[in-house]
Amino acid sequence: MKEAGLTQPRLTLVDGGRVGAATFDEHAATYDTVALSAVGRVFRDRVRNHLAPLLGPGARVLDLGCGTGLDALWCAEQGCMVTAIDESHEMVATTQARAEACSPGLVEARVGDVGRDEFGGPFDVVLSNFGVVNCVPDLGDLGLRLTNAVVPGGTIVLVAMAPLCPPELLEGAVRWLRHPSRRVPNDHLLRRRRGAAGSAAERAAAEGSAVESAAAERAAVSGYEALNLRYLTASDIVEAISPSFDLVAAQAIGTVLPTFEQRRVVDARPGVLAALSHVDRLVSGPAAKLGLGDHHIVVLKRSGA
Ligand SMILES: C[S@@+](CC[C@H](N)C(=O)[O-])C[C@H]1O[C@@H](n2cnc3c(N)ncnc32)[C@H](O)[C@@H]1O
Repeated sequence: MKEAGLTQPRLTLVDGGRVGAATFDEHAATYDTVALSAVGRVFRDRVRNHLAPLLGPGARVLDLGCGTGLDALWCAEQGCMVTAIDESHEMVATTQARAEACSPGLVEARVGDVGRDEFGGPFDVVLSNFGVVNCVPDLGDLGLRLTNAVVPGGTIVLVAMAPLCPPELLEGAVRWLRHPSRRVPNDHLLRRRRGAAGSAAERAAAEGSAVESAAAERAAVSGYEALNLRYLTASDIVEAISPSFDLVAAQAIGTVLPTFEQRRVVDARPGVLAALSHVDRLVSGPAAKLGLGDHHIVVLKRSGA
């Protein structure tokens, strides 16, 4: 998720650390302002509707890229045993603190790399909410590691940022009509693979040189721009993660709903948000097929039960 207008201090990577972890460390303290906004809750509820029937006392849940632990804690509240992984130390610390306060003994939060780690298990349910899989370079490899970690008949719910987001395109069009001479930000055109700056910073860190390159600095002033990510449709995910998983559902969120960055448009208009949310649900299936939406939810079942 990106947050327009946030400014960051310079990126500082130590011991070859990843730009993604550094970026999310910076945002851990303020992350919930966006995540718990009115539109953030609508997005999250749509994902939880898929999860709720799968959860219950004793279910073993893996939360990949747990962030501040909002979903991990929610799963624990349903009686699940949760393993929560994130590459950001600050995010993991926040999840741990929440878990100790609300559900002691039910959540194990640890630092880890979803792009590389073996996950252990076995797990009945795996969740990866809001853009974590966009940061994973090899989804096929993630699929193999999930095959090892999920019981036959188990379910994975992956939520990724999609490439063609109508509310952003609309915003881009309005901006352009108002100020035709100004450059429209890339995200208000077709969402594109990001990350040149992030990769440059990571390479510099790996080589042991200073990370404060011009590229990293440019990245650092524009919120989440440093992340090395690619946008994915539901079909991209299904193609990469099969053959050990069968598709249960693919839906778009945010075909007509404002994005997290546009949340202020509906913050004080619950009626408008409810109406848009209703329409958004109605078009969620066809929109996912067309590659439209802010995020795509993909629900897959491990074959061989
Ligand atoms: C947009 S946040 C989503 C957090 C949480 N899932 C939620 O629903 O609020 C993305 C999270 O993924 C984590 N992340 C990104 N790439 C990762 C990776 N390769 N390994 C582990 N965590 C990663 C980030 O640190 C961040 O906490």
